[in-house]
Amino acid sequence: MSLAIPNIDPAALARFYTAQRERFGARADSKGLVALAEALASVTPSALNHGDIGRWTQALDALPAVQPSRVELNSARLVIGDERDLDGSLSALEFRAHLEAFIPWRKGPFELFGVGIDTEWRCDLKWARLESAISPLADRRVLDVGSGNGYYAYRMAGAGAKQVLGIDPHVPYVAQFLLLQQYLAEVAVDILPITLDDFPERCGAFDTAFSMGVLYHRRSPIDHLLQLRDCLRVGGELVLETLYVEGDEGYSLIPQGSYARMRGIWFVPTVATLTAWISKAGFDNVRVVDESVTTPDEQRATSWMPYESLSDSLDPNDSSLSVEGHPAPRRVVIVATKR
Ligand SMILES: C[S@@+](CC[C@H](N)C(=O)[O-])C[C@H]1O[C@@H](n2cnc3c(N)ncnc32)[C@H](O)[C@@H]1O
Repeated sequence: MSLAIPNIDPAALARFYTAQRERFGARADSKGLVALAEALASVTPSALNHGDIGRWTQALDALPAVQPSRVELNSARLVIGDERDLDGSLSALEFRAHLEAFIPWRKGPFELFGVGIDTEWRCDLKWARLESAISPLADRRVLDVGSGNGYYAYRMAGAGAKQVLGIDPHVPYVAQFLLLQQYLAEVAVDILPITLDDFPERCGAFDTAFSMGVLYHRRSPIDHLLQLRDCLRVGGELVLETLYVEGDEGYSLIPQGSYARMRGIWFVPTVATLTAWISKAGFDNVRVVDESVTTPDEQRATSWMPYESLSDSLDPNDSSLSVEGHPAPRRVVIVATKR
């Protein structure tokens, strides 16, 4: 291994980056993806400097080796294995304790070897809002920016995608993904702890690029759109999901502090503003396919994410407002084609 990163245990680096990049490269079957994997070989994943990597590595090392007898990636709750697969070597309760070591579980839901993980987010609801509005994923090479623990990436694989690469700099989510991948090694999904800033220019390797829940975290949202365009082949599809506010073209909320208790929120545009940004960034055929208000049915605290959630982020006397007095969170899905 040639990368030297201060304060990073080489084994952790290999676990969270090098091995995953090599796995991604080994699956790559197009010139574009092979070139991308080669370019990423010289990238230093700065995210590895954050988070308690030792804790995650230990939890991953402790996972039992079990073979799932069945896998369902095309259902609301992703199913990996069955309680009978544990085969008496450990009880469902013992296996549950392994999964609890990865709390908080925000994205899901999952069922692993009979243990249901009721995550903070019902991600199946967002997937249901967009799946029939996007180009069929069968045989497509897909990028998922802000992939979290890989729930959506596995749904993309379940919908027939040829290969999915997720990127997310948050190490605890990547650790959850590595847990899932331990039991799904054959599925062509990989997640790297990097961002689009680490990508080579104009890689053009993907047929579809998802960016869901990321744009409002970017200080320069138009640069984010340009980076997404550069990842796509000509004619490739962008699926963008983000927070929006109601209003006219040109307006964007720029929260001065937190927004619905979320930190690091820069721009929350109107749908008309966002549509104009996307066109300006080099996309045609820009279509709004869904607008929704986030409800506590979709985002709430559970035993797998026992901390504050949406209901704590809204004004207790007026749920149309966030605790800061901004409009309560609304989300839009926009699909567009690279010009
Ligand atoms: C609100 S979550 C959305 C997760 C998922 N895409 C979804 O729609 O539910 C935002 C995710 O984007 C990740 N993220 C933040 N900045 C990012 C960046 N520059 N590149 C890639 N991912 C990023 C965060 O770590 C987090 O997992």
